[in-house]
Amino acid sequence: MSETVRIPHGLPTERDAGPFDPPRDLTRLREGRPVSPLVFPDGHEGWLVTGYDAVRQLMADTRFSSRQDIGVLHLPYETPGMPAMTEPSPQVPGLFVAMDPPDHTRLRRKLTGAFTVRRMKQLEAHIGDIVERQLDEMARHAPPVDLVKEFALPVPSLVICELLGVPYEDRETFQANSAQILVKDQSLDEKMAAYDALTTYLAQLVTRKRAEPGEDILSDLARDDDLAVEELVGIAFLLLLAGHETTANMLALGTFALLEHPEQLAALRAEPELLPDAVEELLRHLSVADIFYRYATEDIELAGETIGRGSTVVVALSAANRDPRRFDDPDTLDVHRRARGHLSFGHGVHQCLGQQLARVEMRAGFGGLLRRFPTLELAVPAGEVKLRTDMSIYGVHALPVTWTEPAR
Ligand code: HEM
Repeated sequence: MSETVRIPHGLPTERDAGPFDPPRDLTRLREGRPVSPLVFPDGHEGWLVTGYDAVRQLMADTRFSSRQDIGVLHLPYETPGMPAMTEPSPQVPGLFVAMDPPDHTRLRRKLTGAFTVRRMKQLEAHIGDIVERQLDEMARHAPPVDLVKEFALPVPSLVICELLGVPYEDRETFQANSAQILVKDQSLDEKMAAYDALTTYLAQLVTRKRAEPGEDILSDLARDDDLAVEELVGIAFLLLLAGHETTANMLALGTFALLEHPEQLAALRAEPELLPDAVEELLRHLSVADIFYRYATEDIELAGETIGRGSTVVVALSAANRDPRRFDDPDTLDVHRRARGHLSFGHGVHQCLGQQLARVEMRAGFGGLLRRFPTLELAVPAGEVKLRTDMSIYGVHALPVTWTEPAR
């Protein structure tokens, strides 16, 4: 049985097995001890969970509290020198990803209607139009272009702005501040400054919507007297950040992965009806939202280990999604695989609220991109693509691409 894992410099982030694979230290642990004791940089002890069954069981068990604002802001364990957390952190109003039932249930319920499969089906054609317009614009550029800047970031940003009723002209504010919040090695002061700037902006926006509601999700919430302005701000912050950063990174890293697996790309081009399964497989294979934190509110048995009350528990979705006990040949990207059951959207009460939206965006995004740019390729050697190992959501900082035939 493996020893306690020490992480004096934080969790392993180096992509030593390849840009699309989890760090080797995480997968090695999964084979030895899928629930491993861990010593954080500040010296306090916790657990690291890497096995598929254990991660699923943990995320389904609300005795593992989500009340740690590190869920979004990634504090304090990735900020060296921060003290050990000995009790659940105070709640940030509206930030229901970092709440437990019943507070979590009350807020999530107010949004489930807005993100159902049916609602997202209704939006499909419109999202398809947004994708096509963005591809038209990209085609007007002389290659090479940065796919992140021209496609992967604008598409989900435009979609979430429109759904929430956030003016897209203000994207500089939310894109730059969201990015600051997600830089791991950022001082607490800088993160808080970005967080304050974004929430100040959103407070003005929701206050306007409360006075003059329009036809969008934030207006619908603003009409609800049961929600305080601070709660509206927290919800808006969560939806805006989660709504554009994650999908943008899936589109860019997913395109990179397909370009680096030409046989998979060819299969997908030959059979576009594989797209829904391919999207699930890319989600599984890439796990862009990887690390999540929980807090044990009592002693809990997990995979033969006893997690003591008060422990901080780190969940590595990337390692779980590559568990050979759950997926055959897990390190192979296979667009024919039925990858449903992957944990990339989490599991349990916090399972991603926006997953149907993300699926619609990715199907339209990958489908449109491959159809319109049949000769798409990397414009730099793969080793020169800058990976987001420094960010809380993984992906690429930029993806220079080129094409030889004019886009149709
Ligand atoms: C929660 C991943 C897209 C909104 C989550 C969780 C994961 C995740 C793993 C669980 C967090 C936890 O258990 O602590 C992803 C990935 C996405 C994506 C990989 C894209 C490919 C979106 C989009 C939205 C969104 C487009 C927009 C609405 C949320 C919200 C939560 C959440 C609000 C919190 C749910 C709750 O606490 O009940 N997401 N997400 N996500 N996601 Fe996503």
